Amino acid sequence: MAKGLDVGTMNILSSTPDETGTKFVQQRNSFVEIEYSDMAEQMLSRSDVLHIRKDDKVYVVGDDALNFANIFNKETRRPMEQGILSSEEASAIPMIKLITEQVVGTANQPGEKLFFSSPADPIDSDVSTLYHQKTLESMLSEMGFDPEPINEGMAVIYSELADNNFTGLGVSFGAGMTNICLSYYAVPVMKFSIARGGDWIDKQAAQATGTPVDKVTSIKEDDFVLDFRTDVGGIEGALSIYYENLLDYVVENIAAQVDEGDVEEELDVPVVVTGGTSRPDGFEELFAKHLEDVEIPFSISDVQSVDDPLYSVARGALVAARSEEGSDEPAAQSTSSSGTRSSSGKRSSASKRSSSTSTSTSSSSTSSTSTPSTNSSSADNSTSTSESASSGGED
Ligand SMILES: Nc1ncnc2c1ncn2[C@@H]1O[C@H](COP(=O)(O)OP(=O)(O)OP(=O)(O)O)[C@@H](O)[C@H]1O
Ligand SMILES: [Mg+2]
Repeated sequence: MAKGLDVGTMNILSSTPDETGTKFVQQRNSFVEIEYSDMAEQMLSRSDVLHIRKDDKVYVVGDDALNFANIFNKETRRPMEQGILSSEEASAIPMIKLITEQVVGTANQPGEKLFFSSPADPIDSDVSTLYHQKTLESMLSEMGFDPEPINEGMAVIYSELADNNFTGLGVSFGAGMTNICLSYYAVPVMKFSIARGGDWIDKQAAQATGTPVDKVTSIKEDDFVLDFRTDVGGIEGALSIYYENLLDYVVENIAAQVDEGDVEEELDVPVVVTGGTSRPDGFEELFAKHLEDVEIPFSISDVQSVDDPLYSVARGALVAARSEEGSDEPAAQSTSSSGTRSSSGKRSSASKRSSSTSTSTSSSSTSSTSTPSTNSSSADNSTSTSESASSGGED
């Protein structure tokens, strides 16, 4: 067995193969510190709330942190900021350890292979990802795994571009960062991150409208649509403006980072956008439109979104772990590992793919997974469940 793990600024997810496909377990990467009291003790003992007690303080972590923060009128805190362990948060490491243990469980055998996502170094901030990566690595080793980092953008390629020989541009729009990777037959030719994502949009929109950030986040996550038709001067209007600004910034940086020498002549590739920030309706159309505005030395066949954007990175990490684990066996291959929606891209007509229903958004669900191969032909050996999404027709 092998496992995949996505350690994100807002969400931590594990992916494990099971008899029906892939099982995902998810927790919010946040916690709240409350004073120990009889009331707190009662609430904690009555449920399976994830928590630790330290002297007269109790730390409630994961999905329950927000509920407890509301009840006890406290702010939630986050172990990570802008894609890496927060240097401002003294409790970051023990908290992230607790959440990770809950999400990933114990190793099935000593030294079980586990690939965990790690961001590329950001081009617009002088932070290094090395400390973050090495800290997670030793934490996971202590838990009994044989951990290996996988670049977040590359995990997107493994997860979403199996049917294109792991060739294309994968972009993960997360909370703290945007990770970008251009891959050619499973070899990354460009990878970088930008220290902006959903958190940045929320903060800017909150500042512009004088609204608390938490309120902006919940409006954005509830029913926000990128249609630019309504709410001039309101919160949704501000969200649209900063969404657009983020996309401009991302495409400008893609254009600046891609090196003509690294790209095959006449390269024509699909782009996949994923991550929680890519969720609003209209996102991939807007990204496709912005890509048309920049000069890049390769052409884009289409811009695709995925049905379950929170799961892409964890799924890709598992694909990589399984591929490494079974590297002495022939790799199982699949035409696609997850459903994608496609939008008209630049310089060529859109290839429309049909997709079945998406995986659920609950904290645990199953879907199919495939392993990478750099061969050009592929046979579909993946198993699917009723919850799994698979790609349908071509072009
Ligand atoms: N329906 C939605 N509409 C808009 N944004 C959403 C929606 N659901 C979640 N988000 C945003 O997606 C982000 C979380 O996405 P994701 O889980 O991919 O990030 P992460 O992996 O935790 O972060 P990172 O990769 O940057 O470290 C948050 O900014 C969250 O507010
Ligand atoms: Mg992420």
